[in-house]
Amino acid sequence: MQKTFLMVKPDGVQRGLVGEIVNRFEKKGFQLVGAKLMHVTEEIAGQHYAEHKERPFFGELVEFITSGPVFAMVWEGEEVIATARQMMGKTNPKEALPGTIRGDYGVTVGKNIIHGSDSPESAEREIAIFFKEEELVPYTK
Ligand code: CMP
Repeated sequence: MQKTFLMVKPDGVQRGLVGEIVNRFEKKGFQLVGAKLMHVTEEIAGQHYAEHKERPFFGELVEFITSGPVFAMVWEGEEVIATARQMMGKTNPKEALPGTIRGDYGVTVGKNIIHGSDSPESAEREIAIFFKEEELVPYTK
């Protein structure tokens, strides 16, 4: 079964959207197997956004993600990586369709409410950055 890493960013937490976002993925039929409210340190931000290091907006990215608590999650289910990306909508909320999380709640590309892994490789990498193996909870013994 596939797993993905999703994170409600500081803007989403501050605006009280954690419950709404969890609700959408639960109702869709995915299982929450790990979750925590936490601050992202500069070190974790650097690891998480390593592929964006050379981008002009890297500084902004780190500043924003470390600016307040995030809600980090691991979700499990069939094709959860691609389906979660569809449910999130396009990276730029201006292009995200109504009915998607960013389409319904986001305005700017920097503060776009939620992060979700874009491939099985990034899901594995990102889950390992944010969660220890023992923090993931299986539903069956
Ligand atoms: P995410 O896909 O979670 O991870 C990379 C982030 O970079 C992306 O969300 C956007 O929030 C952010 N991003 C992409 N393009 C820009 C941009 N032009 N300016 C600021 N942030 C950006």
